[in-house]
Amino acid sequence: MAASPITADRLLLFGATGDLARRMLLPSLCALDADDLLPENLRIIGTARSELNDHEFRQMAREALETYLPDDRRGGMADFLNRLSYQALDATTLEGFDTLAAKVSENAEDNSDLAIFLSTAPSLFGPTIAGLQHAGLTGDNVRMCLEKPLGSDLATSCEINDAVATAFPEERIFRIDHYLGKETVQNLLALRFANILFEPIWNSNYIEHVQITVGETVGLEGRVAFYDDAGALRDMVQNHMLQLLALVAMEPPTSFDATAVRDEKVKVLRALREVQPNETVTGQYREGAIKGQAVPGYDDELGKDSNTETFVAIKGHVDNWRWKGVPFYLRTGKRLPQRVTEIVVQFRCVPHSIFAEMGATMQPNRLVIGIQPEENISLSLMAKVPGLDQEGIRLREVPLDIAMPDAFVGQHRRIAYERLLLDLIAGEQTLFVRRDEVEAQWHWVDSIRAVWDKEGKTPQTYTAGTWGPSSAIALTERDGVTWHE
Ligand code: BG6
Repeated sequence: MAASPITADRLLLFGATGDLARRMLLPSLCALDADDLLPENLRIIGTARSELNDHEFRQMAREALETYLPDDRRGGMADFLNRLSYQALDATTLEGFDTLAAKVSENAEDNSDLAIFLSTAPSLFGPTIAGLQHAGLTGDNVRMCLEKPLGSDLATSCEINDAVATAFPEERIFRIDHYLGKETVQNLLALRFANILFEPIWNSNYIEHVQITVGETVGLEGRVAFYDDAGALRDMVQNHMLQLLALVAMEPPTSFDATAVRDEKVKVLRALREVQPNETVTGQYREGAIKGQAVPGYDDELGKDSNTETFVAIKGHVDNWRWKGVPFYLRTGKRLPQRVTEIVVQFRCVPHSIFAEMGATMQPNRLVIGIQPEENISLSLMAKVPGLDQEGIRLREVPLDIAMPDAFVGQHRRIAYERLLLDLIAGEQTLFVRRDEVEAQWHWVDSIRAVWDKEGKTPQTYTAGTWGPSSAIALTERDGVTWHE
């Protein structure tokens, strides 16, 4: 068994002036600090190309915290800012890495643990790893965390993983999928494996289909070049949606240990069946309105014509014993009517209705796991409508609802990165994605793209503020299934 990791006392943040650092990483770290959850001696060293001194970096961080972190989570901000320091670096050359290493080592005990967070363009991954090696920052006491995008297909993802593997073994590589930091996503494991109720019926004998929806109301959000190269399949399905699917479909792991959990997830990802041409729908939004606000079309936002999909719906299958014949319908898109992430598990009808002769109609049970914006778990059950039933019995679906914030009053709603950063600092890998998972994810996504290329598939248009092209509705309706809305 591997030795337990030591809590890091230094965190080196590449891309420290970037969007992710300002919106998520610095606010998450500050919020953790406010709750006394960071190691007392943790120092955070930021690096990026901009020529800033420590004071200017702290000033930038202060502005980011004031913009992105709610007032009530900013307690002790001054102390947090004191943990920060900064070293400018051009990561494309080796030159500045020695100075960076000197800054990182200031006042550090020999061999104390260092966590590095790489939130830069993937083109800088290779040069950064080379620079870190050159400056002696890849020793046994160093762990490396990578932010997406990790490649644009299996081949480019392998290149990145190979480059990182020259300096770090897999036990010291932490690949982020921020969906795994979301509370309700982790709760999926609790729901499945801390209750006796679901597991016996969590299979094709009792489950008719599963739906996973990740709807967004936002459009390009200024990420024009990145998004137009990526598209919805690579941006959302390859990572977040397949991780959700893996958590729903995996076999019970023996423990919450990183190897046990990831072993089970990768088996699911490898069992994904290659999709047929008629099992995917792609779309691109045109101008429309969301919550009464007019919004432009994708091509207008982009400033040119494009064949990039901003919506994708897929009918997937997990080819194993448990899930034989159970479709997994996935859909995600930009400029949909609602921001919603949810998993719907649709159970089968009871095999025989004792109420049929009394005129009652039955609906099968359905479990809806709401991940955002509301954290909700809702199980629909059939119940008798109160009355004397003189004209026959009436049954109706009633929800058994658990609103997580109500069930756990007084608990913070945390940013997904809070949990992930804390785990990185502690060296705990369960909620990070292992290389074989990423590769299985790309393998499936590449096979879908190959089908699209072969068929010359181009996205159908949909009006912003609707649930994608009408063929996305047809994708499920022809199986007699309606998307949950
Ligand atoms: C990112 C995608 O990984 O996830 C974005 O690149 C997307 O396009 C975002 O908007 C969604 O994350 P969340 O947490 O807002 O659902």
